[in-house]
Amino acid sequence: MVTQRAPSQFLAARVREAAPSPTLAVSESARQLKAQGVDVIDLGGGDPDFITPAHIREAAAAAMNGGLTHYVASPGLPDFRKAIAAKLQGDNGITVDPLKGVLVTPGGKAALFQTALAMVEPGVDVMVLEPAWVSYVPMIELAGGRAIHVTLSPDDNFRVTRALLEVAVTDATRIILLNSPNNPTGRVLSHEELTDVAEFAKAHDLIVWTDEMYEKIVYDGHQHESIATFAGMADRTLTFNGLSKAYAMTGWRLGYVAGPVEYISQIAKVQSHSVTCATSFAQAGGIAALTGPQEFIGEMVTAWGRRRRAVCDGLDAVKGLRCPRVEGAFYAFVDGRGTGLDSVALADKLLKEAHVAVVPGIAFGEAAEGHVRLSFATDDESLAKAVERIGDVLGRD
Ligand SMILES: Cc1ncc(COP(=O)(O)O)c(C=O)c1O
Repeated sequence: MVTQRAPSQFLAARVREAAPSPTLAVSESARQLKAQGVDVIDLGGGDPDFITPAHIREAAAAAMNGGLTHYVASPGLPDFRKAIAAKLQGDNGITVDPLKGVLVTPGGKAALFQTALAMVEPGVDVMVLEPAWVSYVPMIELAGGRAIHVTLSPDDNFRVTRALLEVAVTDATRIILLNSPNNPTGRVLSHEELTDVAEFAKAHDLIVWTDEMYEKIVYDGHQHESIATFAGMADRTLTFNGLSKAYAMTGWRLGYVAGPVEYISQIAKVQSHSVTCATSFAQAGGIAALTGPQEFIGEMVTAWGRRRRAVCDGLDAVKGLRCPRVEGAFYAFVDGRGTGLDSVALADKLLKEAHVAVVPGIAFGEAAEGHVRLSFATDDESLAKAVERIGDVLGRD
């Protein structure tokens, strides 16, 4: 009789050691409380509260009914890749090979993860500017690499400087990861900051991964710029984007990575051996999204801009909280350091006592400690109720 192994002995260390997604964990706790009959307002997620526009849904339905129900080319429908290349050229000024320079993936998350598998291995360091989206570090570590945490300061509006990057870079650094507009801080990197990153990347011979998922969601005249267009950067930049946020298509799972053919062709191998392709008829919807009317995006952003002001005006009046108006994306990134609570304790108090689910800042790295993130991509009434309840629990100034 062989000795029986514990289940953990059948699991790879890199998976055992990975933490589950903290944002999904918040949603799960909220769901459990709801199941007990508690009226929880879940502001933990990151899903637009609008239904995908009708012309996009109709295009996908027509494609499905017309028989586009089979495997399609692994890197994506050629017309979709062409539409993405045209979008990158028109919106961002990025020139890529329309067929070989674009890989369509099941969501932006898959584009990032497959790229991590293609480019990261033990001995490779990736610089992550924090606060950072929850999945970057686990993706890097699952691929066997090491994340170098670059801590940005809330007291300097999370500004990126060359000095901060120079202190953090290691001999093993191959990649620096940017996310602008940022989840969770909403920061939109300025032209000067992007110039600093570009000069830094060239000086250290690094590849830049730039996650531009929230590019369309900016406020107060802030402008999104793509680092791939900066001098000498096209050959060393991979641009990640998707349709989830701008077109309210989170459930469709459509994303992409675009850049130099030498890298895209290798990432495409990972996709061909894992998911094969993004869903065929969803891609037909993706074509309609990119090539159809775009006014819908402005309408959503106007609604979110209004809610951003309402939520922050309300939370600024709450004892111990400060809610700077974010520059982009649809999250309020609330500074709760004035409450004297750490971010987990604050999020816990808000869930248990105010019945409002928010994400503790620590989920986005040490740099976000003392903060909580809440999504304002939900209806005005729920947001007003959430602010009211938070004020009742923490008190008002
Ligand atoms: C910064 C950032 N990047 C990427 C993604 C992934 O989006 P999707 O996989 O839905 O395209 C998200 C989703 O929340 C995000 O916030």
